[in-house]
Amino acid sequence: MESYLGTIKSEFTLSKSKLQELTEEFQKQLEIGLKCTDGMLKALPTFVYDLPKGNEVGKFLTVDLGGTNLRIGLVELLGNGKFVIKKDSSVVPDDLKCGSGREIFEFIACNIEKFLEHPEIEAELPLKLGFTFSFPVEQKSLAHGRILGWSKEIDAKDVIGLDAVSLLQSALHSRGLNIAVEALVNDTVGTLLAQIYRDDRTKMSVILGTGSNAAYVEKSSQVIKTKIDSDVTVINIEWGSFGDGTNTNILPITRFDFRLDNESKNPGLQKYEKMISGMYLGEIFRLIISELVELGILVWNDEIKSTTPYSIKTKHMSQFHEAFISNNKILCNNLIKYKFNLNPLCDSDILALSKIAEMISLRSCYLCAIGIVAVHRHLLKTNLLGSNEMFSVALDGALYQRYPNYSKILQNLVCELDGVGVEVCRVVLVMAEDLSSIGAAAAIAAAKK
Ligand code: BGC
Repeated sequence: MESYLGTIKSEFTLSKSKLQELTEEFQKQLEIGLKCTDGMLKALPTFVYDLPKGNEVGKFLTVDLGGTNLRIGLVELLGNGKFVIKKDSSVVPDDLKCGSGREIFEFIACNIEKFLEHPEIEAELPLKLGFTFSFPVEQKSLAHGRILGWSKEIDAKDVIGLDAVSLLQSALHSRGLNIAVEALVNDTVGTLLAQIYRDDRTKMSVILGTGSNAAYVEKSSQVIKTKIDSDVTVINIEWGSFGDGTNTNILPITRFDFRLDNESKNPGLQKYEKMISGMYLGEIFRLIISELVELGILVWNDEIKSTTPYSIKTKHMSQFHEAFISNNKILCNNLIKYKFNLNPLCDSDILALSKIAEMISLRSCYLCAIGIVAVHRHLLKTNLLGSNEMFSVALDGALYQRYPNYSKILQNLVCELDGVGVEVCRVVLVMAEDLSSIGAAAAIAAAKK
């Protein structure tokens, strides 16, 4: 086990020079993405022309489709950066994720209809709807977005190339629901707008959940590929695709990443996301454990379960890591038995597994840090940000919120990459929990003015 751990460590550790190289490459690819439509980073214009000021008011219906959950809400913006939300949440069923894409939109419409059955919600009609859609879309306006593809192991058919707003709008109409979809925003964009609504110093948002991505406020003159009728706008980087492309070998891909990518629903795509986000970290962990079993170091207690891809969730890897740190041996053993499907382990093997979890999560943190620092450097270079100005980044997603120490480590790494101590670092990471629907509402309210 000792020597195996050494090998994994060398594969998962990124040297300082590699991190600087990755940061420079990320910044370069972002700047290419702003110029042309076929860059590695899509850097998608969002047609958000008006950033919220915090004084917007009004009631809006919101829908948020992510990789795991669907959330429907009634958002009331109260001004002064304040809001209230009433919401319902449901899990997106697995069979929908690989069926016809239209069924996903029918599922959304059906859940909206149920939500409107609450008399207090129905009484608020008519309402404008803000749609948070956590997948890449090419927008031509705030209420239009051509679906470019799915991610996060969703592979729904027949809707690629179609407008997500029209799909939702016709699913609503076929149920007799006369609701106008007025804004389509990515979850990163929703989070950014909502945090700007609360604090106008916010310049960037990052999602670290089932998937991973970031958005930021950009000078429109930098977006050479699209004409934008405002001084500043919001760019959805779609950073999950950093490293994609046949001739590129930028990312430090290990044999586990290679296998995960090959066996995924979108091989060759979203390579950066596959090394960072919650959908995948548990699977990387499972692939390493599988190798330990093949080597005869560990033994499965349920071979069928454990050899099923994605049977170990990042949530369980995270709970295990947390239980190890807090010395909760009972929980560690339960997770090993029931979630990792392994025979009982001795203390040194438990320690080794916790080190593996740590290496996987730390690499995710490092890779995320390079993306944040690259955007910061780009904004300094193009003078959208002064060198002494604070760069406030809103973060959301279960990985950021719940993985032990992730948020603290990420803040430290960002400062380390920037070459300064936390006390003087201008990049400040702020928790922005569950805000993307608020941002969709704020997008409509700000555009109205
Ligand atoms: C999607 C992004 C989304 C991110 C976080 C990625 O898989 O491509 O559009 O923002 O997940 O949900």
